[in-house]
Amino acid sequence: MLNANKLSFMKNKSLISITDYSRDNYLKLIEIAEGFEKNPRQQLLEGYVIASLFFEPSTRTRLSFESAINRLGGRIVGFTDASSSSVKKGESLKDTILTVSNYSDLIVMRHPLEGSARFASDVAPVPVVNAGDGANQHPTQCLLDLYSIKKTQGTLENLNIALVGDLKYGRTVHSLMMAMSNFNATFNFISPDSLRMPDTYKNYLDEKGIKYYEHDVLEDALPHADIVYMTRVQKERFSDPIEYEKVKNVYILRNAMLEETKDNLRILHPLPRVNEINEDVDTNPKAYYFEQALNGVYMRQAIISSILGLR
Ligand code: CP
Repeated sequence: MLNANKLSFMKNKSLISITDYSRDNYLKLIEIAEGFEKNPRQQLLEGYVIASLFFEPSTRTRLSFESAINRLGGRIVGFTDASSSSVKKGESLKDTILTVSNYSDLIVMRHPLEGSARFASDVAPVPVVNAGDGANQHPTQCLLDLYSIKKTQGTLENLNIALVGDLKYGRTVHSLMMAMSNFNATFNFISPDSLRMPDTYKNYLDEKGIKYYEHDVLEDALPHADIVYMTRVQKERFSDPIEYEKVKNVYILRNAMLEETKDNLRILHPLPRVNEINEDVDTNPKAYYFEQALNGVYMRQAIISSILGLR
């Protein structure tokens, strides 16, 4: 069982990178999220105001945070489009964050610039939760991914994880690879040459002695995989549209490709998908991406209540 002292690592602390937390911290958050899954309606946030600042589009992250906050009895202020805020008039990120801190107990922020979330947490007097900063990190997605993996595999240890698609710009795979490196995972990276996992992340694995293999062909990684984590090619991060056109449909997972795969295999995707998972996979019992999105509510309830010290 958890106690308040064991959770104090999160109290009033911003969540910017998945490496801000340890392996034990991930496991504690998973345990808390399991409690919310059993009992999602708890009035822990009564009287609290959470700011939700989305400088980039979002469906799952924003709405699952809002759902989590509403189910906990909290209130939300914020914007879904920075062009409706005074950013449009030239207000800086620092001034926006200092102002919004006056109106809220915690800020959830998505922003297109790498490092923006760290900057916001440095200036804000209230905790900041990074809901995605450019191609850098998406730690709350990572925690819900860990929750989904633990729930479907019964463990986080010794798993074979295939990360597929845009490994260069995909912030979700960067966070997930770093987190799963704490659980003796074996990684298979499947991407075209132009979208390989950046060296900085491969060096991170090398320093920890974690095995990874790079492939061009998706089918090569399927037979041994416990988790196949598909990703969208991140069109919005390409400076050259012709380069995007070359790789946009490079991998399409189809139901027939899953015939010789392990029984325990689950297909994850942070969503939104474009073409990378054919709809004929959706009814396969190995498809887990919509349940994964639901798990985001429980994990975000766990994150917010723990940061606000409400457990
Ligand atoms: N997974 C994820 O970040 O989805 P959204 O962009 O819809 O928030």
